[in-house]
Amino acid sequence: MDAMPSDSVLLANRPVHRMGFGAMQLPGPGIFGPPGNRERALAVLRRAVDAGVNHIDTAQFYGPDVANELIHEALHPYPEELVLVSKVGAARDEQGQWLPAQRPEELRAGVEANLRSLELDQVPVVNLRRHPDSDVPIAEQLEAMIALRDEGLIGGIGLSNVDLDSYRLARSLTEVACVQNAFNLADRSGQDVFDACREDEVPYVPFFPLGSAFNPENPVLGAPSVRETARRLNATPAQVALAWLLHKAPKVLLIPGTSSLDHLEENLAAADLALDQEAIELLS
Ligand SMILES: NC(=O)c1ccc[n+]([C@@H]2O[C@H](COP(=O)([O-])OP(=O)(O)OC[C@H]3O[C@@H](n4cnc5c(N)ncnc54)[C@H](OP(=O)(O)O)[C@@H]3O)[C@@H](O)[C@H]2O)c1
Repeated sequence: MDAMPSDSVLLANRPVHRMGFGAMQLPGPGIFGPPGNRERALAVLRRAVDAGVNHIDTAQFYGPDVANELIHEALHPYPEELVLVSKVGAARDEQGQWLPAQRPEELRAGVEANLRSLELDQVPVVNLRRHPDSDVPIAEQLEAMIALRDEGLIGGIGLSNVDLDSYRLARSLTEVACVQNAFNLADRSGQDVFDACREDEVPYVPFFPLGSAFNPENPVLGAPSVRETARRLNATPAQVALAWLLHKAPKVLLIPGTSSLDHLEENLAAADLALDQEAIELLS
């Protein structure tokens, strides 16, 4: 068997590079409707994979239907090493409002929609994305996810938007392939779950690694410590923010989102940026 590349981590038993790609920025504004520039969105996906990305995060409700359709058009038939990760637990209405879809039958319908749109027999990993006000117990949801995995429709079960209690409960019920929670230089409110994953050696996939598209006064890329470090290390603020996350734990996997080819190249290069002690102290 080939040795696993040293910068790879096993995600549901499949090796992925630590620098992946998040597809949420590809649909139109507000993650709703078609992309502003369809050819560019397809080019971003193809360039990511050409550059070695083998972990792409998506969801049927990005668009809705748009991100998965772009992934299918750009990349199908998929390279064998590509690990597509999707999520279930939400839906969109006709105005683009986000709706919870937390019931077991909705989780199953979500997986089936991903299988159809991505044209897969199995989604390698599906995150159960908990809604903060969900009235469905997580144990009931996991029972549905475990059945889907037993049937071979999903390869691994991930968790998203979970607190520490839910994470621990889930781990007591089944194997957890990864955890995807918000975490970045400016928002460390999920440090407890981050620490638990590091201790348990569970891959942790921080979303909003660059501070997200939702806040125009980006608290990550605009932070003086980030800008100063970027200047000193001849890097960009985005690269500093990503390198800091990679430095935090060996099983951190990144999925920065972009619709720009230039930003994609910049983000991929962050995998090679080594932060020195001065940078770590300033950023911490
Ligand atoms: N599980 C969940 O509930 C959940 C929630 C949110 C996101 N996610 C996943 O996490 C991924 C990452 O999160 P995200 O996309 O929301 O936020 P993000 O990666 O923190 O930030 C994306 C924003 O940063 C910009 N950007 C990207 N690269 C940049 C660079 N090098 N320099 C400056 N700006 C840059 C993007 O704009 P441009 O397009 O102009 O580059 C976009 O506005 C998503 O794509 C999605 O797959 C999951």
